[in-house]
Amino acid sequence: MKRYLFFAYSLAIILMTGGSLIFAQENADKLRLPTGTMMLKAPAHSQTKMSPVVFPHSTHFQFSCTICHHEWDKVSPVEGCASSGCHEKLWASPPGTTPLRDKKVKSLTGAYHQACRECHRDLFKESQGNSKAMSRITAPVACEECHPASQAAVEDSLDSLDIPLGTITLAAPEGAESRRSPVEFPHGKHFDYACQTCHHDWDGESPVENCTTSGCHDQLEPDEKTRNIHDERNSLYFLAAYHKGCIQCHLSLRDQRRSLEKSGDINESELPGYGPLACIECHADS
Ligand code: HEC
Ligand code: HEC
Ligand code: HEC
Ligand code: HEC
Ligand code: HEC
Ligand code: HEC
Repeated sequence: MKRYLFFAYSLAIILMTGGSLIFAQENADKLRLPTGTMMLKAPAHSQTKMSPVVFPHSTHFQFSCTICHHEWDKVSPVEGCASSGCHEKLWASPPGTTPLRDKKVKSLTGAYHQACRECHRDLFKESQGNSKAMSRITAPVACEECHPASQAAVEDSLDSLDIPLGTITLAAPEGAESRRSPVEFPHGKHFDYACQTCHHDWDGESPVENCTTSGCHDQLEPDEKTRNIHDERNSLYFLAAYHKGCIQCHLSLRDQRRSLEKSGDINESELPGYGPLACIECHADS
């Protein structure tokens, strides 16, 4: 179901953002990603009735970052939800008090309740009829599950990871015969996808391992009997892993785009973008 959810959301996001994603500059900038648990509180000056909310950030990395950080350009630092110009107000203003020309921005409470609760509710809805799945879901929906009467004082965890935002150069691992030029991979441009789409064994908290780390895709040669990248025997062959991972997704997006184009139901600007498919587009000068 998680997989299904991810695909549903990523498709929605691709359809929403179309090809108009803001492109990262060529830089080696890093983002400090908090991986622990945070306490979500109303801004300091506001009067509150409810206890602060414990939010395990990394439990949510199976979703795209931009599902929550919906204004993030994947280049700049990530802004807090209550930053100036965003969900600054704790409560919605009374109707008729916001000048029409002002952009309508949801209140902080409204934004959090919508984002957090609706997704959790959807999880329950989907699991209905499957009592096993229902009993496994821990995502809170009731008021007191998020705002318990007495909240044990949870300290914000300071755990974090540095993640590269710009372009990563992917080369063949040491010891492998290299016939093609290394690939310039725009990492940040792929953050509309959940991190685990690619880092499939990552737990959301530990350091991220390289793809060709020992024990992972560290095989330098194809299997003796077959070069087929889809053959199970080549699953640890680095070339097979990269080509399957990168090219398959670009290809399926291209196919989706083509069938949407054929159906004519959707504007040109809303069609999903896709990445390179030709050898020369990834391996530039060979
Ligand atoms: C389910 C929603 C959700 C998802 C998914 C999510 N975040 Fe967050 N993130 C939050 C919330 C809520 C905060 C706290 C914001 C605040 O304090 O105003 C936060 C805080 C942060 C911060 C600290 C911002 C600051 O104020 O200093 C960073 C950086 C960040 N997230 C990056 C990411 C990245 C990168 C991803 C994708 C791997 C991601 N987040 C996925 C909800 C989410
Ligand atoms: C896009 C969907 C989505 C959004 C948005 C979302 N969550 Fe979740 N949340 C999940 C999923 C999935 C789980 C894990 C459910 C499971 O497998 O049991 C979860 C689990 C949790 C848990 C329980 C974690 C545990 O260790 O049992 C808490 C607490 C939580 N979410 C709080 C929040 C808060 C607060 C927000 C808003 C800032 C939020 N969530 C936004 C999908 C979401
Ligand atoms: C999935 C988690 C979640 C659930 C469920 C939830 N809330 Fe919230 N609520 C939040 C978050 C996050 C905030 C913003 C941070 C804060 O103010 O603590 C918030 C803010 C509030 C606030 C404004 C701040 C304050 O303390 O006065 C009120 C009031 C509130 N919630 C009431 C409720 C009520 C009533 C319910 C049940 C109908 C409910 N919430 C269910 C997550 C949740
Ligand atoms: C979407 C990008 C992409 C496309 C398209 C692509 N490759 Fe690759 N290829 C990679 C990545 C990433 C690697 C692993 C890193 C490296 O070796 O540079 C790789 C590795 C290789 C390697 C092994 C390493 C080396 O340098 O010799 C060969 C050979 C190769 N590709 C040939 C091709 C050929 C031939 C095509 C066209 C049929 C092609 N690639 C299309 C991304 C791509
Ligand atoms: C489309 C695939 C893809 C997505 C999505 C993706 N990454 Fe990566 N990431 C890679 C590749 C490929 C590398 C280079 C790995 C290597 O050098 O072997 C990398 C490298 C990294 C590194 C550096 C690892 C090192 O060697 O130090 C970190 C950290 C990282 N990614 C975190 C993330 C996080 C967090 C997310 C989610 C916001 C994410 N990645 C999303 C493909 C992806
Ligand atoms: C889950 C899907 C997915 C995976 C996996 C994926 N890509 Fe992409 N890639 C995309 C999409 C979507 C775009 C178009 C992004 C855009 O238009 O901003 C893209 C764009 C690109 C671009 C072109 C960016 C530009 O400047 O126009 C390159 C290069 C690229 N990908 C390389 C790779 C490599 C190398 C890998 C494997 C390590 C990879 N991609 C894995 C979806 C994916």
